[in-house]
Amino acid sequence: KRVAVLYGGNSSEREVSLNSGKAVFDALKRLNYDAHLVDTKTNAIGQLASLQPDVAFIVLHGPGGEDGRIQALLEAMEIPYTGSDVAASAIAMDKLKCKMIWRGLNLPTADYQLINESSQFEDLVASLGLPFFVKPACEGSSIGVSKVICPESFQAALLDAGRFKGGMLAEAFMSGREFTVPILGAKAYPSISMIPSKEFYDYESKYLRDDTSYLIPSGLSDDNEIHIQRLAKTAFEAIGCSGWGRVDFIESADGELNLLELNTVPGMTNHSLVPMSLASVGVGFDSVVEQILNLVES
Ligand code: DAL
Ligand code: MG
Repeated sequence: KRVAVLYGGNSSEREVSLNSGKAVFDALKRLNYDAHLVDTKTNAIGQLASLQPDVAFIVLHGPGGEDGRIQALLEAMEIPYTGSDVAASAIAMDKLKCKMIWRGLNLPTADYQLINESSQFEDLVASLGLPFFVKPACEGSSIGVSKVICPESFQAALLDAGRFKGGMLAEAFMSGREFTVPILGAKAYPSISMIPSKEFYDYESKYLRDDTSYLIPSGLSDDNEIHIQRLAKTAFEAIGCSGWGRVDFIESADGELNLLELNTVPGMTNHSLVPMSLASVGVGFDSVVEQILNLVES
């Protein structure tokens, strides 16, 4: 099978994607696939047209690659691809729309507000309390996310999140642990707890520091582990996602598990969370890659 590994792209998560894509490519080579790396930063159409792959393995993170756009291009070119379809990818990329859908289905997620550059600090404190978070709706890896503690940090947060397309949201702060749950096929896998040494699990904690701890088993009770895996699957299916992904959670002060966001193309470097969880149940990196590919409906 000729597999085009789509990686790179031009989102702010390009660097992460270059690492994820290379790791997936190496695994496909070890599995004896006719794998080819395609950096979609420029001329994706031309490269795909000349390569004529049987299937595209999407390892692009962020807008352009994870948000339905490359998926639509592949649909038009009649190239089957890994992961969620156009509509589900587009909704999943948008944290605000996911939260609206989850709320509509009574799934737990922190209180939030749609905001723009003229939103007022006092109004947000009145509805969300303090501190709160400001996030670009459509970025990944915590890019552009700030914790707001005062009017000055609010203005800085608006400027930072406002650099990105797709709008912004403010979200109530939750003081508990962060968890993540991989989905592969019809199944959810063991949760991981991420313990940053900094204030929250930001870009630096994710990729640049070596003092972030990952707990697996995550420390949840058996009942809560069943609960978080069920919730992950329900949240994934509510958005219409398929194939594989990863659902992120945060715990409130009273221990309730709340949905943060979902990733339709989670990180796939050798030390990323999806392979980490799967490894804990004896599924190696190459096997994860092969399963993702085998889930493609052609
Ligand atoms: N957005 C990054 C790649 C992740 O969720 O793993
Ligand atoms: Mg993400």
